[in-house]
Amino acid sequence: MKLRALIAGLSAVALAFTATACGGDDGDNTKDVEVFTWWADGSEKAGLDALVAEFKKQHPDLNFVNGAVAGGAGSNAKNVLASRLQQQDPPSTFQAHAGAELLDYIEANQLQDVSQLYKENGWDEVFPEDLIELLTVDGKIYSVPSNVHRANVVWANPEVLKKAGLDDKPAKDIDGFIQQLDKLKKAGVDTPLSIATDWTQVHLLETVLIADLGPEKYIGLWDGSTKWDSPEVSKAIDHYAKLLSYTNTDRQNLDWPDATKMVIDGKAGFNIMGDWAEAAFQEADKEWGKDYITYPVPGTDGIFDFLADSFTLPVGAKNEEGTKAWLQTVGSAEGQKAFNIKKGSIPARTDADPKDYGDYQKTALESYKNDTIVPSLAHGAAASVKWSTAITEAVSSFSANKDIEKLKSALVKAAEDNQKKQ
Ligand code: GAL
Repeated sequence: MKLRALIAGLSAVALAFTATACGGDDGDNTKDVEVFTWWADGSEKAGLDALVAEFKKQHPDLNFVNGAVAGGAGSNAKNVLASRLQQQDPPSTFQAHAGAELLDYIEANQLQDVSQLYKENGWDEVFPEDLIELLTVDGKIYSVPSNVHRANVVWANPEVLKKAGLDDKPAKDIDGFIQQLDKLKKAGVDTPLSIATDWTQVHLLETVLIADLGPEKYIGLWDGSTKWDSPEVSKAIDHYAKLLSYTNTDRQNLDWPDATKMVIDGKAGFNIMGDWAEAAFQEADKEWGKDYITYPVPGTDGIFDFLADSFTLPVGAKNEEGTKAWLQTVGSAEGQKAFNIKKGSIPARTDADPKDYGDYQKTALESYKNDTIVPSLAHGAAASVKWSTAITEAVSSFSANKDIEKLKSALVKAAEDNQKKQ
């Protein structure tokens, strides 16, 4: 099963709509291109900077304006963007995840069709067909993908594991993982598993759901064929609660770089994070396979938990021509190479040379080619912004009140509310 299964699920939830996107260039002669992302600091900004350098090379006449709003996974940026769109004040382009999240913007008639750019640049040939389908409604393509990230990755510090008598081998499943965490705890490691604020907890929950349900039933959570009140989901939530008990208690005040840094610095044994973490390890000059090790979250071997960032042309964007130039750089072979080498992700284009990428990224390229693909919840591929916000609220309350029954019923309700919407 490749991306196709996920596309089938998404088209089931996509509402019929008519795009009334219209040209929004207000005719001013600005050279500014405001690029709205959440890649505001650290290793994420380093990725963006590399892309901007390529943009400047390709379009020296244009002026990049950084509209980044800090907060991992767009935790702040998405709200800021929503109010700007509502006030008819869109940036020239904004970052959006391929899949359900992009559909939200398309259905709200906030995006323009960029199919023409695909024709002009021959992108139909270089982006995978099933990825393009995640960006398409009614034959129109609404964004240009910059990269593909893998979400189901364990980042571990082998020194910390060794001190607790653990080796480099991954546990077979979540129960085995819990045993490892327990060993770390008993050996005196304060934080066996590092984590940060709300969305990173949703990220952890999603990987546990994949591990416990397997790919088909996990995908079924998003198309309604797997029930949120089933015993299997209940077991996964119990697992999640247990895992959370091995994490740092200051989690609500941290973002992902802080949690990943705990592994980099030897203060935690494990962190479960998307492979933007790779960029943080590289920035800290760490060597893959020696200073840190990676493997799929226990129970998810052979599965690629997928998400892709993409860039849009909003309705009413200022400097449309400049935005198209940005999109052209994003889709170009050079733009993808410059960006992805730094970002930890793999290029969305299929014509990349694996030799250009680091050791970890080579494993992701292989997995993306051969494994079963499932959509990420925390990163916009699986569920609408509204649904994932409801899930995030439930998970966040659980972090404070530890009431597992409340968490379970809130997740069931979130799925029911989503059904009603349709
Ligand atoms: C994801 C995004 C990644 C990375 C991550 C952490 O949602 O797709 O590119 O930025 O958030 O902020």
